[in-house]
Amino acid sequence: MQAYIDQTADYVRKQLANAEAGHDWWHILRVWNNVKLLLQHETADRITCELAALLHDIADSKFHDGDETIGPQMAGEFLSKIGVEASTVQHVQNIIFNMSYKASLGDVTFYSKELEIVQDADRLDAMGAIGIARAFHYGGFKNRELYNPNIPPVAHHDKESYKNTTAPTLNHFYEKLLLLKDKMNTQAARTIAKQRHEFMEQFLSRFYDEWEGNN
Ligand code: ADP
Ligand code: NI
Repeated sequence: MQAYIDQTADYVRKQLANAEAGHDWWHILRVWNNVKLLLQHETADRITCELAALLHDIADSKFHDGDETIGPQMAGEFLSKIGVEASTVQHVQNIIFNMSYKASLGDVTFYSKELEIVQDADRLDAMGAIGIARAFHYGGFKNRELYNPNIPPVAHHDKESYKNTTAPTLNHFYEKLLLLKDKMNTQAARTIAKQRHEFMEQFLSRFYDEWEGNN
C-alpha cells in the first residue's frame, strides 16, 4: 500500500514541476501533511485520504478552461495504471471532484469521511499566513488590485459568480477566506482553523491601518 503512495507522490511531484506557486508541489506537501495530522484524530481510510490529497490539484479546472472533469480523470487513469483497486480509484475521483470550494457552492452529490478530511486539509492551506501569501500570489497572477475601497466584497451564493469575479484580492478574504473557519468538517481542523483565522483578522486590521496611514 505504501508503494502506491510513494509512486503517486513521485508522479505528482513531476507533474507539478512547473506549476504556479499557489498549487505547486509545496501546496500538495502541506495538504498531505495536514491530512496526516487530521488522521491522528479521525477514523478513516488512510490510503484513500493520502492518495486524494496527493492528486487533488493534478489538473485544476482554473487552469484548464474550467474543465472540472480533467483532474479526476487524470487521477483515475494514473491510479488504475499502478494497480490501485477500482473502488479506491473511484472514491479518490469522487473526493477530487467534490472537494473544492467551488464544488461546495454547487450541488454536492457525494459524501464520505475521507472527503471531509481531505477538504479540511486543503482549506486549512487557504488560511493563515500561507493563505494570505497564496491569495496575493493568485491576485498577482491575475493582475488584480490589492485592495480598492470603492469595490465592496459580495457574497457569492453560486459557483459561476465566485468563479468569474475579478475583484481586488482583499475582497477574497470576505468572499471566502474568513468563511472557512465555519466550514470545517472535523473538530481537529476547527481548532487549527481558529488560530489561522485570528491571524488573518490581525493582518486585515494592520492592512487598513497602514492603508489609511494610521500608524
Ligand atoms: P477553489 O476551489 O475555490 O477554486 P482553490 O482551493 O483551488 O480554490 O484556491 C486556490 C488558492 O487560490 C487558495 O489559496 C485561494 O484562496 C486562492 N484564490 C482563489 N480565488 C482567489 C481570488 N479570487 N483571489 C485571491 N486568491 C484566490
Ligand atoms: Ni488544493
